[in-house]
This record gives sequence, structure tokens and C-alpha cells, in this order.
Amino acid sequence: MEVIIRPTADAAAELTAQIIKKTVATRPNLVLGLATGGTMETVYDKLAREHKENNLDFSLTRTFNLDEYIGLPPEDKNSYRYYMNKNLFSRINIDLRNTHLPNGMAENYTAESEKYEQLIKDNGGIDLQLLGIGRSGHIGFNEPLSALQSRTREKALTPVTYEQNSIYFVPPESMPKRAFTMGIGTILDARRIVLLATGEAKAEIISKAVEGPVTSMISASALQLHPKTTVIVDEAASKNLKEKEYYRWLFDNEPEWEEYKG
Ligand code: GLP
Repeated sequence: MEVIIRPTADAAAELTAQIIKKTVATRPNLVLGLATGGTMETVYDKLAREHKENNLDFSLTRTFNLDEYIGLPPEDKNSYRYYMNKNLFSRINIDLRNTHLPNGMAENYTAESEKYEQLIKDNGGIDLQLLGIGRSGHIGFNEPLSALQSRTREKALTPVTYEQNSIYFVPPESMPKRAFTMGIGTILDARRIVLLATGEAKAEIISKAVEGPVTSMISASALQLHPKTTVIVDEAASKNLKEKEYYRWLFDNEPEWEEYKG
């Protein structure tokens, strides 16, 4: 795992968007894992701009989202399918048939989960997985105690997640209590992972996930087991990190980051 600290939330999102842009540009038929949440909106704005202004081509890109609420149809404004269409897919030249999310209306949860896993496999696995982090430490909707080897399945959401996400629902109580999510094992199979977290509200959970022990109590800590994970944070989210100086040194000195400066 490596940690990159950028001065502002916008600069952190910009670096994330640049990594995705370079990967899409060098590998047209990329399999891209996508995340939702407020943090990602800036990243998707930047990718949409790259498409509009610099013709970044998504025509062969295939995407898999991490999760979807159970019981919400695609046209529901709070479904993640709606979020993705609105924030990204409708703004770039992606073929909607190549964009995948679990079907929130599926009645057989096991069958839907197995189907999703199989589809990822049939597409050759995920090349680059984008992640946010919930205040419960979840990645996707892998709430505390999710098995570190879990695969796509349905999960009950914690009160913390309910509190964090129900602000988007009218009324808040209409938020579903369950969701489909890729498992931690599914996420760890991705060839590269980029997690983006910004703002002071994420500082505590980021320090636990990055510098604390690997524990199923904090799903994101499982990323410490992955060979190529980059955690990108802004100054505010990096507040509680102990090894900040080392992380700064890495960004300043590692040749890999040269092309992302200036
Ligand atoms: C939801 C998603 C997560 C995402 C989280 C962060 O809970 N299931 O994948 O990481 O939101 O949201 P935000 O970026 O709004 O803090």
C-alpha cells in the first residue's frame, strides 16, 4: 500500500482522475471498477471534462460498480445505477451495455451475486478498481465483520452507514437497509486499486485503515494485503496519519509520480 497526500480535496480528486485517464488511454478495453458517493462526483466531473475537451475515449471501456441498494429500480434517483448514469455514463462515450451494477431488483440474492461474480470473471477480472471509504470503514458495502475473503453478496447496512447515506433519501427512512456488494475478496482480486478519501470526517477511519491492524472490523484495512493499492487523501483526511513525512517524501521522490506533477 502507498499513501499520497495532496493539499486539497480537488487536487486529490485530480490525481485520481489522472490515474484513471492514463489507464483508460493506454488500455482501451480496460475493465474499470467504479464507486459511488459524494467524494467520487468530482472525479467523474473531471473524467467527463477529459472526454469533452480532450476526447478521452471510453468506447471500449467496461465497468463494474461495487454495489447497489436492494429494492431500488434503476430509475430511482437514489439507486447507484441512476447515480452512475447521471454523474458519468451519460457524459462520456461509453456503451451502456458495457456498464454493470448488481440488479437491485433481483429477488434471488444468491443467484444475482453469483451472476455478478461470473460476469467479472468472464470479462477477465478488474484491471483498476476505484474505491471510496465509508465512516464505518466499509469499502463497497462491506460492513464491519465482513469476511476478508468474501465475494459478492447481499449485506445488511450498519446504523453508521444508515446515518451517513440516508441524508440523500426523502424521507430519510426510505433508505434501503440492505445492499448487494462486491466482497472484500472480489475487490482484492483487482490488479490495481485506488482509494480516494477527502475531508476531516474521514481522518480517523483512514488512519485506522492504513496504519492500524488488518481486521474485519475495518474492511478497508484488508487493502494492506493487496500488492498494488494507492490511497489518495487530502491534507484534512491525512490529519491522524503518523507517517505523513514518509508519504510526502514518496510522492516527491518516486519516479512513478513524476508524470503527475505540474
Ligand atoms: C457509499 C458507498 C461506498 C462509498 C461511500 C462513501 O456508502 N457504498 O462505496 O465509499 O458511500 O461516500 P462519500 O464519498 O459520500 O463519503
